[in-house]
Amino acid sequence: SMLVRSSSSAKQAVIRRSFSSGSVPERKVAILGAAGGIGQPLALLMKLNPLVSSLSLYDIANTPGVAADVGHINTRSEVVGYMGDENLAKALEGADLVIIPAGVPRKPGMTRDDLFNINAGIVKNLCSAIAKYCPHALINMISNPVNSTVPIAAEIFKKAGMYDEKKLFGVTTLDVVRARTFYAGKANVPVAEVNVPVIGGHAGVTILPVFSQATPQANLSGDVLTALTKRTQDGGTEVVEAKAGKGSATLSMAYAGALFADACLKGLNGVPDVIECSYVQSTITELPFFASKVRLGKNGVEEVLDLGPLSDFEKEGLEALKPELKSSIEKGVMFANQ
Ligand code: NAD
Ligand code: LMR
Repeated sequence: SMLVRSSSSAKQAVIRRSFSSGSVPERKVAILGAAGGIGQPLALLMKLNPLVSSLSLYDIANTPGVAADVGHINTRSEVVGYMGDENLAKALEGADLVIIPAGVPRKPGMTRDDLFNINAGIVKNLCSAIAKYCPHALINMISNPVNSTVPIAAEIFKKAGMYDEKKLFGVTTLDVVRARTFYAGKANVPVAEVNVPVIGGHAGVTILPVFSQATPQANLSGDVLTALTKRTQDGGTEVVEAKAGKGSATLSMAYAGALFADACLKGLNGVPDVIECSYVQSTITELPFFASKVRLGKNGVEEVLDLGPLSDFEKEGLEALKPELKSSIEKGVMFANQ
């Protein structure tokens, strides 16, 4: 319709050119940790996403193979693999979105916080490079413990003078994906229609699914809601135990990561009313970082939405999660400033 209305032929040419190269903007997405258990299926899913024009796959090992493999898929994006620290700058330059699943996963018996000692350092180094080479990119932090790695990232960006709280996201989408699946099973509603907000953080009791706001509504008993809440909180551990030493969720996480990245890209592209739960800098509780519904837009976080009405059970859960989440945040901040 722009073409038809346009009067000047020069203007038409410009519009036509930008139209013929696709009305979808160019977007570079970088995955750091792209050869890992999450990284590989996430690379596949991002290669299938038509919003991506350039897919940059970075890891300390094995990225040439992953990039060659994924790169043969006949979809829009150009794929380049980058291996080793000396290629990190090139992997990041021009990125609109950086997804970080780099770091070690849990084994049975471990908490996510047991990963802190190794993953905090990895995240710190990667974020220092992001601050240098693509400071305006959106960051999707997957590396655990998310409750601490997001505050670490914020501190590293602050130190570099490059912190934009609107651009930093802890990925909690897997909690939402699980809550949807488990709820659909009990509520006997079509799973594809289900939505459930999940608030708080991403570890044990800090994960708080808000089933009182689930859609479609269902009249579930208190016992069922308690069991659904616990299963959502322990979803990661359920997978860690089933994998019996071979790592944690990778396939469902790649799905969840791809869903959240797609929402971020839609927001960047100006699609209205893109709302997802994410762990972000927040003022909706007294905690400086908190997961809740967030409206995504051209600058990243456009709005952190209110929690809405909570049941008494959820209100208790909210108070109960605060001490652990607070100390995980402080641990991250301390680490980054030591
Ligand atoms: P993995 O061990 O299979 O893969 C991790 C990858 O990171 C490896 O390929 C490794 O080479 C790479 N890596 C290590 N150091 C790096 C560095 N400095 N730069 C770039 N890459 C580096 O592990 P995984 O199963 O893919 O899990 C990755 C992380 O994601 C873990 O911390 C895990 O706990 C976390 N995780 C988070 C969620 C979530 O919901 N947020 C879900 C599942 C897993
Ligand atoms: C998950 O929720 O599956 C991830 O955080 C991985 C884990 O360690 O549980």
